[in-house]
Amino acid sequence: MIARNKNIVITGGNNGLGKAIALQLAEEKNNIFFTYCSDDKSATETVREISKLGVRVKALKVNFLNEASVKLLVEKSYEFFDGEVDVLVNNAGIICRKPLFEITEKDWDDTHNVNTKTPFFLLQQFGKKMQEKQLQRIQKAYKEKGIEITDKLLNSSAKLSLLADYCIVFITSISRNVFTGLLPYEVSKAGTHGIVGAAASDPSLSYFQIRVNEVAPGLIATNLNKHIWMHQPNLWQQRASSIPLGFTGEPADVAKAVSSIISNKWMNGTTMTVDGGRSHNFIGSDLKQQASILKSKL
Ligand SMILES: NC(=O)c1ccc[n+]([C@@H]2O[C@H](COP(=O)([O-])OP(=O)(O)OC[C@H]3O[C@@H](n4cnc5c(N)ncnc54)[C@H](OP(=O)(O)O)[C@@H]3O)[C@@H](O)[C@H]2O)c1
Repeated sequence: MIARNKNIVITGGNNGLGKAIALQLAEEKNNIFFTYCSDDKSATETVREISKLGVRVKALKVNFLNEASVKLLVEKSYEFFDGEVDVLVNNAGIICRKPLFEITEKDWDDTHNVNTKTPFFLLQQFGKKMQEKQLQRIQKAYKEKGIEITDKLLNSSAKLSLLADYCIVFITSISRNVFTGLLPYEVSKAGTHGIVGAAASDPSLSYFQIRVNEVAPGLIATNLNKHIWMHQPNLWQQRASSIPLGFTGEPADVAKAVSSIISNKWMNGTTMTVDGGRSHNFIGSDLKQQASILKSKL
C-alpha cells in the first residue's frame, strides 16, 4: 500500500531525512511542497530531482526561529496546492550538543522553537484548515446529495466515506529517551512525542479523520551529526556498535516508514521506531565479542 496523488508539505525537505521523504513520496506520485532554511543549492537540486518524477513541487525558504514562518508556510502551501493539503510532515530539526553546565538560554530556546514549538503551531494551523475542509465535505453531502445528517451518521464510520484521509507526521527521535549528551534536543523530542499522543486523541482532529503519528529514527549520517561522523569516527563507531543490527540507518529507511503511515488510514497516535533495535539495547553491544562468538562456532 502506498500514498498516491496527495498534496504533501514537508519541513526541511532539502537535505537528510526530509529530502529522502520528499523523494520517496514524489516517486509514489504525490505532489511536494517543502521548506528549507539556509542551503539554497540543495533546495534547487531537490526541486530539480523531484520535477523529473513528474509531480508538482515547490520549495520555500523559512527559518523557524522567525515567528512569522508558520503563517507564511500555511499561506504559501495552501496557495500552491489550490486550497487542499493532505499531509504535513514535521521533519525540520536542529541539535544542541554541549556539556550541561554550558547550555545557554538561547540554546534551549532555539532548540525548542525549531523542534517543538513550530511543529506544534504547524499542527494547529494545518489541523484547523483540514478540519474546515472536512466540515465543507459534510455540508456539501448534506446539501447537494440530500444525505441526512443524523446522530447515527455523525458517530459512525459511515461519515468516513464523506471525509478525506488527512495525516500529520512528526519526525521525532529515539533521543527522546536514549540519552547521549544532547539535553535540550532530547527534551525537545520528548515534548514532540507528547504532542503526538495528545493531538492524536484530540477530537478536533481525530473526529475529522486527521491522524497524527510519529516516526522515531535512530542513528543516521546527515548534516545534523556531521561533526561526529566526519571528525570523531571513533565516537561514531561506538554509537553504531550499540545498534543490535550493527549498522547505522539510511534516510530512505525513515522515508519508507513515513510512506507506510500516510497510506494506512487506521494508524493514529503511533510511534514507529526505525533504529536497528538501539532503543531496546540499554546495555549496548560488544560487536567484537559477538563476532568472536560467531567465529568460534564456525
Ligand atoms: N540524523 C539522525 O540521526 C536523526 C535521528 C533521529 C531524528 N532525526 C530527526 O530527523 C529530522 C531531520 O534531521 P536530519 O538528520 O535530516 O538533519 P539535517 O540534514 O541537518 O536536516 C535538517 C533540516 O532542517 C532544516 N532546518 C535547520 N534549521 C532550521 C530552522 N531554524 N528553521 C527551519 N528549518 C531548519 C534544514 O534546512 P537547511 O539544510 O537549509 O539548513 C534541513 O532541511 C530532525 O527533526 C532530526 O531531529 C535525525
